[in-house]
Amino acid sequence: MTLLNAARTVRENAYAPYSKFKVGAAIRATSGAVYVGCNVENVAYPEGTCAEAGAIAAMIAAGDTKIAEVAVIADSPQPVSPCGGCRQKIAEFADGDVVVVLHTTDGSQMRTTIKTLLPAGFDVDHMSRV
Ligand code: THU
Repeated sequence: MTLLNAARTVRENAYAPYSKFKVGAAIRATSGAVYVGCNVENVAYPEGTCAEAGAIAAMIAAGDTKIAEVAVIADSPQPVSPCGGCRQKIAEFADGDVVVVLHTTDGSQMRTTIKTLLPAGFDVDHMSRV
């Protein structure tokens, strides 16, 4: 299964009764394994947990720590833009040149990299004087 199809399939399971906006994400780790996540909302925190965060949690739980590629899909007019928190979470486990492909359900796509999505991001070097 392609990374896009993995993201498309898991998106069907999104629990988004508050926003009605379903998102699917799939990560291929450098091991070759694919991890998926969908957004999961709740009444107290209707923004819930993003699809990307779910896929990262699945990857870490399985023992992988290096991202090779990311795919995200949603039914949006433009390819959905990962939130700031998710950019930081992806950057924790991805080199800057890792490709992130953002898809719409009707076939548009935007291919970018994590360093483009999170330029000048906070990283461990900023704490090197500690
Ligand atoms: N959402 C994601 O899961 N990923 C994104 O990249 C953007 C937004 C979710 C969070 C929330 O459940 C809904 O979309 C609306 O913000």
